[in-house]
Amino acid sequence: LSSPDAPRILVNGTECSSVDVTDRGFALGDGLFETIAIRAGAPRFWQAHAERLLDGCRRLAIPAPSIDALAHELECVRAGASSGAARITVTRGPGPRGYAPPPEPVPTRVVGFYPAATAPAHKPRFSLRWCETRLALQPALAGLKHLNRLEQVLARAEWNDPTIDEGIMLATDGRVVECVMSNLFLVVDRTLVTPALDECGVSGVMRRQVREIAMRSGIDTEVRRVEPAEVERASAVFLTNALRGIVLVECIGDLQYSRHEPVVEHLMDRLETLDG
Ligand SMILES: Cc1ncc(COP(=O)(O)O)c(C=O)c1O
Repeated sequence: LSSPDAPRILVNGTECSSVDVTDRGFALGDGLFETIAIRAGAPRFWQAHAERLLDGCRRLAIPAPSIDALAHELECVRAGASSGAARITVTRGPGPRGYAPPPEPVPTRVVGFYPAATAPAHKPRFSLRWCETRLALQPALAGLKHLNRLEQVLARAEWNDPTIDEGIMLATDGRVVECVMSNLFLVVDRTLVTPALDECGVSGVMRRQVREIAMRSGIDTEVRRVEPAEVERASAVFLTNALRGIVLVECIGDLQYSRHEPVVEHLMDRLETLDG
């Protein structure tokens, strides 16, 4: 009997937990994924996840899956659970040896539901470190949530200290980009600032929601190059990702940030009340 916390996974619509070793997602990282929060029995910000996935398929010339079929498969694996996390992976599918994309790819789709992955032990404020591992500048892949995550794997391997929750990553040219598994925002003189992601980084679904809330609320927002010194001068720093929403930063190394920042409190309140 499988435990109620066991993941439930469909590969191309069939219950299964493995893929062909010739699959280009496995062999080359040739694919994309989405990690989606399930909240109140529904995938949160489904439309935004679907849009990012479709945009990634277009940019990589992977034939796009049917969003209706993915939604249906997600309902099947969710099996009525009201919370948890889902992961959708789309690869270019199996192929012969070599990098050349097959002329008529048959993409693989994997839809998984992880009942136990919901509420990561709720720590209200995070402790951060600066990572040594740098992100390479690659505009052709910037913004995509693609399967090549070795930079994040190297960065996450830099620390074992359980009191550190996240690491900030710089690009090879020294600019601040994002964190290992989340996007980064600063509040500087009551202006919301987030690094531009046109040369590297993942264009997060939660980052998009936060920018949209800020715009609707009349909060000045800048998307631009950010230097490390600016992060240290900011009146508040917070992170976003699809599973955790907004998480305030308590400290980066020895540097402490204030617990209360009106701009962040407003964004958190508004995000909580958003349907998605
Ligand atoms: C490297 C990286 N950046 C940013 C994000 C945030 O993206 P999202 O808001 O879509 O979860 C993630 C999420 O896992 C990530 O892995």
